Amino acid sequence: MSPPALVPFDPRSLEALTPADLRARGSLKWTAVTTEIAAWVAESDLGTAPAVTAAAVAAVTDGLTGYLPPAPRAAMAQACADWHHQRYGWDVPARWVHPVADVLEALHVAVEHFSRPGSAVVVPTPAYMPFLTVPRQWGRDVVQVPMTTDGGRPVLDLEAIDAALGAGGGLVTLVNPHNPTGRVHTRDELAALGAVVERHGARVFADEIHAPLVHTGHRHVPYASVSAATAAHTITATSASKAWNIPGLKCAQLIVSNEADAATFEPVSFLATHGASTPGVLANAAAYREGGPWLDGVLDYLAGNATALADVLAEHAPAVRYTPPEGTYLAWLDLRAALAGHDLPVGRWLAEHAGVEVVDGIRCGRVGLGFARLTLAMPRPLVVAAGRRIAAALAEA
Ligand SMILES: Cc1ncc(COP(=O)(O)O)c(C=O)c1O
Repeated sequence: MSPPALVPFDPRSLEALTPADLRARGSLKWTAVTTEIAAWVAESDLGTAPAVTAAAVAAVTDGLTGYLPPAPRAAMAQACADWHHQRYGWDVPARWVHPVADVLEALHVAVEHFSRPGSAVVVPTPAYMPFLTVPRQWGRDVVQVPMTTDGGRPVLDLEAIDAALGAGGGLVTLVNPHNPTGRVHTRDELAALGAVVERHGARVFADEIHAPLVHTGHRHVPYASVSAATAAHTITATSASKAWNIPGLKCAQLIVSNEADAATFEPVSFLATHGASTPGVLANAAAYREGGPWLDGVLDYLAGNATALADVLAEHAPAVRYTPPEGTYLAWLDLRAALAGHDLPVGRWLAEHAGVEVVDGIRCGRVGLGFARLTLAMPRPLVVAAGRRIAAALAEA
């Protein structure tokens, strides 16, 4: 048998899966809704790398289901640091990489311990939905700052972020690669944000959970790696959980990028890291250490899915505006022209008329009105079917 690291992603058995098969597997995405096709939550149907499965299974069979021991904790930090070095050219010391249960826990730490007490959280929109609501539960205002466009590409509106920070904002959420638009911000864009944040003495929470999912022609640049200034004002969060589809194993990474923040984190680290599960830490380490070849196959497959959807929509629903993502496995569909004059929220309309469950863009902020987020991490025949269903429903609208 070949070692797990050498097992490539093989879509053949996947392509035969029907919606009934996927429901029978029991995932949240397929069982919490009754539409013909489930393309809403950012979960993948593509399984995980054999090396990740082996690590998670071994954790259970070897009895490593207790509290997190120091050796796997250190090994995961090193594997994550090495991944950042090899894939993105960022030399972050392993001692600055900490396990947390999930990215939302890292956001909590960033808000609670690294942003000015009481300051508002500045959220560029459209945004990953919980960022619009969760900071309020921690007593913080959320200021939505709509992104703008540059030559048709969604980009951060730096003037508006500048104004929001000037009005008292203390922390900017930067999601890169971006959920839901799929943008991968360039080094220049990140440097420009860094200059604005620096001017206000503010902070950035860099959510890089989708970093391993960057498509050909684009490159992930960790925000904290851009300059000494960005390293000084950033808390980074990432995880193997999206790319290798293991959010249920509860492990992400919080990365500090300067000695002062390392010192601030130290006394709060017990509680902050307590929720990371031992099997999750082992699985994340395996993903970073051995999951690269499998992921490269997945990226090819996802790019094919993104193109397949574009082809179907271009042929059968040209009024839908959609550009395949630069990163992530999310498709951001602009249905404003296609559904002009219809009253129902886009998400409900698509569920009722097309049988496709998506995330309604309005849940990503006011600027998402008339948009829908569709998850492309499905067997390709289902991506094509979703596109055809949407096109057929629009033809009748
Ligand atoms: C941008 C972004 N951040 C965070 C999360 C959630 O991550 P976690 O489950 O680690 O909290 C997601 C999940 O889709 C996401 O897309």
